[in-house]
Amino acid sequence: MSFKRLSIVVIGAGPVGTGLALLFRKHGHHIAAVGSRSVVSARKLSRLVGGKPFGTERVFGRPPRPLDLSKVDLVVLTVPDGRLSSLVKNLTAVRLFPVSTRFVHTSGSLTSEVLLPLAQLGHKVCSMHPVQSFPPDVSPRDRLATLSGIWFGLEGSRAEERWVSRFVTSLGCHPFRVPKEAKILYHLACTFASNYSVALVGVVEEIARSLRIGQGLRPFKPLVNASLRNALVKGPRASLTGPVMRGGVEVLRRHARAIRRHAPHLENLFEALVSETARQGVQGKRITAKTARAVKAAVKR
Ligand SMILES: NC(=O)c1ccc[n+]([C@@H]2O[C@H](COP(=O)([O-])OP(=O)(O)OC[C@H]3O[C@@H](n4cnc5c(N)ncnc54)[C@H](OP(=O)(O)O)[C@@H]3O)[C@@H](O)[C@H]2O)c1
Repeated sequence: MSFKRLSIVVIGAGPVGTGLALLFRKHGHHIAAVGSRSVVSARKLSRLVGGKPFGTERVFGRPPRPLDLSKVDLVVLTVPDGRLSSLVKNLTAVRLFPVSTRFVHTSGSLTSEVLLPLAQLGHKVCSMHPVQSFPPDVSPRDRLATLSGIWFGLEGSRAEERWVSRFVTSLGCHPFRVPKEAKILYHLACTFASNYSVALVGVVEEIARSLRIGQGLRPFKPLVNASLRNALVKGPRASLTGPVMRGGVEVLRRHARAIRRHAPHLENLFEALVSETARQGVQGKRITAKTARAVKAAVKR
Protein backbone atom coordinates (compact mmCIF):
# COMPACT_ATOMS: atom_id res chain seq x y z
CA MET A 1 0.00 0.00 0.00
CA SER A 2 1.53 3.36 -0.97
CA PHE A 3 1.62 6.18 1.54
CA LYS A 4 2.61 9.74 0.83
CA ARG A 5 6.00 11.04 1.93
CA LEU A 6 5.46 12.73 5.27
CA SER A 7 7.19 15.71 6.78
CA ILE A 8 7.92 14.64 10.38
CA VAL A 9 9.19 16.33 13.53
CA VAL A 10 10.62 14.16 16.30
CA ILE A 11 10.71 15.62 19.83
CA GLY A 12 12.92 13.75 22.32
CA ALA A 13 16.34 12.82 20.95
CA GLY A 14 16.86 9.69 23.07
CA PRO A 15 17.10 6.04 21.99
CA VAL A 16 13.47 5.80 20.78
CA GLY A 17 13.52 9.17 18.98
CA THR A 18 16.79 8.26 17.29
CA GLY A 19 15.65 4.78 16.25
CA LEU A 20 12.32 5.94 14.88
CA ALA A 21 13.80 8.94 13.07
CA LEU A 22 16.24 6.57 11.34
CA LEU A 23 13.36 4.25 10.45
CA PHE A 24 11.20 7.11 9.08
CA ARG A 25 14.05 8.34 6.93
CA LYS A 26 14.92 4.87 5.67
CA HIS A 27 11.36 4.50 4.43
CA GLY A 28 11.42 7.76 2.51
CA HIS A 29 9.84 10.17 5.00
CA HIS A 30 11.35 13.60 5.56
CA ILE A 31 12.59 14.73 8.98
CA ALA A 32 11.75 18.43 9.03
CA ALA A 33 13.10 19.14 12.52
CA VAL A 34 14.38 17.45 15.65
CA GLY A 35 13.57 18.86 19.06
CA SER A 36 14.91 17.90 22.44
CA ARG A 37 15.24 19.48 25.85
CA SER A 38 18.93 19.98 25.14
CA VAL A 39 19.82 21.47 21.78
CA VAL A 40 23.05 19.45 21.87
CA SER A 41 21.03 16.19 21.79
CA ALA A 42 18.80 17.59 19.04
CA ARG A 43 21.86 18.54 16.98
CA LYS A 44 23.37 15.09 17.41
CA LEU A 45 20.25 13.43 16.04
CA SER A 46 19.73 15.96 13.26
CA ARG A 47 23.28 15.28 12.02
CA LEU A 48 22.17 11.68 11.61
CA VAL A 49 18.73 12.12 10.06
CA GLY A 50 18.61 15.71 8.82
CA GLY A 51 16.12 18.36 9.89
CA LYS A 52 16.54 21.53 11.87
CA PRO A 53 17.60 21.00 15.49
CA PHE A 54 15.90 22.97 18.24
CA GLY A 55 15.97 23.01 22.03
CA THR A 56 12.39 22.78 23.31
CA GLU A 57 12.99 25.00 26.30
CA ARG A 58 14.32 27.77 24.11
CA VAL A 59 11.42 27.44 21.67
CA PHE A 60 8.88 27.49 24.48
CA GLY A 61 10.62 30.45 26.15
CA ARG A 62 10.41 32.79 23.16
CA PRO A 63 9.11 32.60 19.60
CA PRO A 64 11.13 30.34 17.30
CA ARG A 65 13.39 32.01 14.80
CA PRO A 66 13.62 30.52 11.31
CA LEU A 67 11.83 27.32 12.25
CA ASP A 68 9.14 26.83 9.62
CA LEU A 69 6.83 24.10 10.87
CA SER A 70 3.84 25.08 8.74
CA LYS A 71 4.09 22.00 6.48
CA VAL A 72 4.68 19.39 9.14
CA ASP A 73 2.35 16.39 8.80
CA LEU A 74 3.28 14.51 11.95
CA VAL A 75 4.97 15.19 15.29
CA VAL A 76 6.31 12.15 17.14
CA LEU A 77 6.81 12.72 20.87
CA THR A 78 9.53 10.44 22.23
CA VAL A 79 10.20 11.98 25.64
CA PRO A 80 10.09 10.12 28.99
CA ASP A 81 6.53 9.29 30.13
CA GLY A 82 6.77 11.69 33.07
CA ARG A 83 7.58 14.59 30.73
CA LEU A 84 4.82 14.05 28.19
CA SER A 85 2.10 15.95 29.97
CA SER A 86 4.13 19.14 30.49
CA LEU A 87 5.50 18.94 26.95
CA VAL A 88 1.94 18.73 25.61
CA LYS A 89 0.96 21.69 27.78
CA ASN A 90 3.83 23.75 26.34
CA LEU A 91 3.08 22.68 22.77
CA THR A 92 -0.54 23.64 23.28
CA ALA A 93 0.47 27.04 24.60
CA VAL A 94 2.95 27.96 21.83
CA ARG A 95 0.95 26.50 18.91
CA LEU A 96 4.02 25.90 16.76
CA PHE A 97 2.18 23.63 14.33
CA PRO A 98 -0.82 24.08 12.05
CA VAL A 99 -4.03 22.33 13.13
CA SER A 100 -3.58 19.82 10.31
CA THR A 101 -0.46 18.42 12.04
CA ARG A 102 -1.03 15.07 13.73
CA PHE A 103 0.59 14.10 17.03
CA VAL A 104 1.57 10.68 18.31
CA HIS A 105 3.49 9.56 21.39
CA THR A 106 5.42 6.34 21.88
CA SER A 107 4.69 5.53 25.52
CA GLY A 108 3.60 1.96 26.22
CA SER A 109 1.89 2.74 29.51
CA LEU A 110 0.10 6.04 28.75
CA THR A 111 -2.94 6.29 26.52
CA SER A 112 -3.67 8.93 23.89
CA GLU A 113 -5.54 10.78 26.64
CA VAL A 114 -2.32 12.60 27.55
CA LEU A 115 -2.55 14.32 24.12
CA LEU A 116 -6.06 15.61 24.82
CA PRO A 117 -5.03 19.32 25.07
CA LEU A 118 -3.68 19.03 21.50
CA ALA A 119 -6.83 17.24 20.34
CA GLN A 120 -8.87 20.10 21.83
CA LEU A 121 -6.98 22.48 19.53
CA GLY A 122 -8.12 20.34 16.59
CA HIS A 123 -5.05 18.12 16.07
CA LYS A 124 -5.55 14.42 15.39
CA VAL A 125 -3.79 12.34 18.04
CA CYS A 126 -2.91 8.72 18.71
CA SER A 127 -0.45 6.64 20.70
CA MET A 128 1.97 4.53 18.69
CA HIS A 129 4.10 2.28 20.86
CA PRO A 130 6.98 0.36 19.24
CA VAL A 131 7.12 -3.15 20.71
CA GLN A 132 10.89 -3.22 20.88
CA SER A 133 13.62 -2.54 23.40
CA PHE A 134 15.77 0.57 22.81
CA PRO A 135 18.88 0.38 24.99
CA PRO A 136 21.21 3.43 24.94
CA ASP A 137 24.57 3.51 23.15
CA VAL A 138 23.70 1.45 20.09
CA SER A 139 25.15 2.31 16.66
CA PRO A 140 22.64 3.68 14.11
CA ARG A 141 23.16 0.60 11.96
CA ASP A 142 22.42 -1.84 14.78
CA ARG A 143 19.53 0.34 15.97
CA LEU A 144 17.89 0.21 12.53
CA ALA A 145 18.44 -3.54 12.27
CA THR A 146 16.37 -4.11 15.44
CA LEU A 147 13.48 -2.10 14.02
CA SER A 148 12.94 -4.04 10.85
CA GLY A 149 9.41 -5.51 10.74
CA ILE A 150 8.56 -4.74 14.39
CA TRP A 151 5.02 -4.32 15.74
CA PHE A 152 3.42 -1.10 16.94
CA GLY A 153 0.58 -1.02 19.48
CA LEU A 154 -1.86 1.75 18.50
CA GLU A 155 -4.49 3.40 20.66
CA GLY A 156 -6.67 6.35 19.68
CA SER A 157 -9.88 7.04 17.83
CA ARG A 158 -10.76 4.39 15.23
CA ALA A 159 -10.21 6.85 12.36
CA GLU A 160 -6.81 7.91 13.67
CA GLU A 161 -5.76 4.32 14.37
CA ARG A 162 -6.51 3.58 10.71
CA TRP A 163 -4.32 6.45 9.52
CA VAL A 164 -1.43 5.52 11.86
CA SER A 165 -1.81 1.86 10.78
CA ARG A 166 -1.16 2.86 7.20
CA PHE A 167 1.83 4.94 8.31
CA VAL A 168 3.26 2.00 10.32
CA THR A 169 2.78 -0.25 7.29
CA SER A 170 4.71 2.30 5.18
CA LEU A 171 7.65 1.61 7.53
CA GLY A 172 7.59 -2.11 6.75
CA CYS A 173 6.18 -2.73 10.25
CA HIS A 174 3.00 -4.24 11.69
CA PRO A 175 0.25 -2.25 13.43
CA PHE A 176 -2.24 -3.64 15.95
CA ARG A 177 -4.91 -2.11 18.14
CA VAL A 178 -4.62 -1.86 21.92
CA PRO A 179 -7.92 -1.12 23.73
CA LYS A 180 -7.55 2.03 25.85
CA GLU A 181 -8.72 0.31 29.06
CA ALA A 182 -6.17 -2.50 28.57
CA LYS A 183 -3.17 -0.30 27.82
CA ILE A 184 -1.49 -0.89 31.18
CA LEU A 185 -2.02 -4.66 30.91
CA TYR A 186 -0.51 -4.54 27.43
CA HIS A 187 2.50 -2.67 28.86
CA LEU A 188 2.80 -5.34 31.56
CA ALA A 189 3.06 -8.00 28.84
CA CYS A 190 5.80 -5.97 27.11
CA THR A 191 7.63 -5.64 30.42
CA PHE A 192 7.56 -9.41 30.98
CA ALA A 193 8.66 -9.99 27.38
CA SER A 194 11.60 -7.65 27.70
CA ASN A 195 12.72 -6.52 31.15
CA TYR A 196 11.86 -9.57 33.22
CA SER A 197 13.20 -12.05 30.69
CA VAL A 198 16.43 -9.99 30.64
CA ALA A 199 16.46 -10.10 34.46
CA LEU A 200 16.24 -13.91 34.25
CA VAL A 201 19.31 -13.93 32.00
CA GLY A 202 20.91 -11.80 34.73
CA VAL A 203 20.16 -14.60 37.22
CA VAL A 204 21.83 -17.13 34.90
CA GLU A 205 24.87 -14.86 34.64
CA GLU A 206 25.10 -14.48 38.41
CA ILE A 207 24.93 -18.22 39.09
CA ALA A 208 27.40 -18.87 36.24
CA ARG A 209 29.82 -16.37 37.80
CA SER A 210 29.71 -18.20 41.11
CA LEU A 211 30.66 -21.43 39.27
CA ARG A 212 33.97 -19.78 38.32
CA ILE A 213 34.03 -21.44 34.88
CA GLY A 214 35.18 -18.12 33.47
CA GLN A 215 33.07 -18.17 30.31
CA GLY A 216 30.41 -15.67 31.32
CA LEU A 217 27.11 -16.34 29.58
CA ARG A 218 28.65 -18.00 26.53
CA PRO A 219 27.90 -21.67 27.35
CA PHE A 220 24.26 -20.75 28.03
CA LYS A 221 23.67 -18.78 24.84
CA PRO A 222 22.53 -21.68 22.59
CA LEU A 223 20.29 -22.91 25.43
CA VAL A 224 18.63 -19.52 25.92
CA ASN A 225 18.30 -18.96 22.17
CA ALA A 226 16.79 -22.39 21.46
CA SER A 227 14.44 -22.28 24.46
CA LEU A 228 13.07 -18.87 23.51
CA ARG A 229 12.85 -19.79 19.82
CA ASN A 230 10.90 -22.95 20.68
CA ALA A 231 8.56 -21.05 22.99
CA LEU A 232 7.90 -18.42 20.31
CA VAL A 233 7.47 -20.92 17.47
CA LYS A 234 5.81 -23.94 19.11
CA GLY A 235 4.23 -22.11 22.05
CA PRO A 236 5.51 -22.00 25.64
CA ARG A 237 3.42 -24.83 27.03
CA ALA A 238 4.55 -27.25 24.33
CA SER A 239 8.19 -26.17 24.76
CA LEU A 240 8.62 -26.64 28.50
CA THR A 241 11.29 -29.17 29.47
CA GLY A 242 13.28 -29.81 32.66
CA PRO A 243 12.67 -31.13 36.15
CA VAL A 244 9.18 -29.65 36.65
CA MET A 245 7.91 -31.34 33.45
CA ARG A 246 9.61 -34.59 34.47
CA GLY A 247 8.21 -34.47 37.98
CA GLY A 248 11.83 -34.52 39.17
CA VAL A 249 11.08 -33.96 42.83
CA GLU A 250 14.52 -35.03 44.08
CA VAL A 251 16.41 -32.71 41.68
CA LEU A 252 14.13 -29.83 42.64
CA ARG A 253 14.83 -30.46 46.35
CA ARG A 254 18.53 -30.26 45.58
CA HIS A 255 18.00 -27.05 43.56
CA ALA A 256 16.17 -25.59 46.54
CA ARG A 257 19.01 -26.50 48.91
CA ALA A 258 21.59 -25.05 46.49
CA ILE A 259 19.72 -21.78 46.12
CA ARG A 260 19.32 -21.43 49.91
CA ARG A 261 23.04 -21.95 50.33
CA HIS A 262 24.45 -19.96 47.39
CA ALA A 263 21.82 -17.41 46.42
CA PRO A 264 19.23 -17.00 49.19
CA HIS A 265 18.09 -13.69 47.68
CA LEU A 266 16.73 -15.71 44.71
CA GLU A 267 14.67 -18.11 46.82
CA ASN A 268 11.31 -16.37 46.37
CA LEU A 269 11.86 -16.03 42.63
CA PHE A 270 12.84 -19.69 42.34
CA GLU A 271 9.77 -20.87 44.25
CA ALA A 272 7.49 -18.64 42.21
CA LEU A 273 8.99 -19.86 38.93
CA VAL A 274 8.64 -23.53 39.87
CA SER A 275 5.04 -22.86 40.79
CA GLU A 276 4.31 -20.96 37.56
CA THR A 277 6.06 -23.59 35.41
CA ALA A 278 3.95 -26.28 37.08
CA ARG A 279 0.75 -24.26 36.53
CA GLN A 280 1.55 -23.89 32.83
CA GLY A 281 2.47 -27.59 32.64
CA VAL A 282 -0.97 -28.54 33.98
CA GLN A 283 -2.67 -26.07 31.66
CA GLY A 284 -0.80 -27.53 28.66
CA LYS A 285 -1.65 -31.07 29.82
CA ARG A 286 2.06 -31.83 30.15
CA ILE A 287 1.88 -32.86 33.81
CA THR A 288 -0.94 -33.85 36.15
CA ALA A 289 -2.25 -31.72 39.00
CA LYS A 290 -0.77 -34.31 41.37
CA THR A 291 2.72 -33.85 39.88
CA ALA A 292 2.30 -30.08 40.08
CA ARG A 293 1.49 -30.35 43.79
CA ALA A 294 4.49 -32.61 44.38
CA VAL A 295 7.02 -30.33 42.64
CA LYS A 296 5.68 -27.27 44.47
CA ALA A 297 5.91 -29.06 47.82
CA ALA A 298 9.48 -30.13 47.05
CA VAL A 299 10.76 -26.55 46.88
CA LYS A 300 8.64 -25.01 49.63
CA ARG A 301 10.57 -23.71 52.64
N1 LIG B 1 13.48 2.67 25.91
C1 LIG B 1 12.68 1.74 25.44
O1 LIG B 1 13.07 0.57 25.32
C2 LIG B 1 11.28 2.09 25.00
C3 LIG B 1 10.58 1.17 24.21
C4 LIG B 1 9.32 1.54 23.74
C5 LIG B 1 8.76 2.76 24.09
N2 LIG B 1 9.47 3.61 24.90
C6 LIG B 1 8.83 4.89 25.23
O2 LIG B 1 9.33 5.87 24.30
C7 LIG B 1 9.50 7.17 24.96
C8 LIG B 1 10.95 7.58 24.88
O3 LIG B 1 11.77 6.57 25.41
P1 LIG B 1 13.36 6.76 25.59
O4 LIG B 1 13.86 5.52 26.27
O5 LIG B 1 13.98 7.18 24.30
O6 LIG B 1 13.35 7.98 26.62
P2 LIG B 1 14.54 8.71 27.40
O7 LIG B 1 15.85 8.21 26.94
O8 LIG B 1 14.25 8.63 28.84
O9 LIG B 1 14.32 10.23 26.93
C9 LIG B 1 14.35 10.61 25.58
C10 LIG B 1 14.89 12.01 25.43
O10 LIG B 1 13.88 12.96 25.69
C11 LIG B 1 14.52 14.21 25.95
N3 LIG B 1 13.66 14.97 26.85
C12 LIG B 1 13.42 14.77 28.16
N4 LIG B 1 12.51 15.64 28.59
C13 LIG B 1 12.16 16.41 27.53
C14 LIG B 1 11.27 17.50 27.33
N5 LIG B 1 10.53 17.96 28.33
N6 LIG B 1 11.19 18.04 26.09
C15 LIG B 1 11.91 17.57 25.07
N7 LIG B 1 12.80 16.54 25.20
C16 LIG B 1 12.90 15.99 26.41
C17 LIG B 1 15.89 13.86 26.57
O11 LIG B 1 16.88 14.45 25.79
P3 LIG B 1 17.85 15.63 26.27
O12 LIG B 1 17.53 15.95 27.72
O13 LIG B 1 19.21 15.06 26.08
O14 LIG B 1 17.50 16.70 25.33
C18 LIG B 1 15.99 12.35 26.40
O15 LIG B 1 17.20 11.93 25.81
C19 LIG B 1 8.98 6.94 26.39
O16 LIG B 1 7.61 7.26 26.39
C20 LIG B 1 9.15 5.44 26.61
O17 LIG B 1 8.26 4.94 27.57
C21 LIG B 1 10.71 3.31 25.36
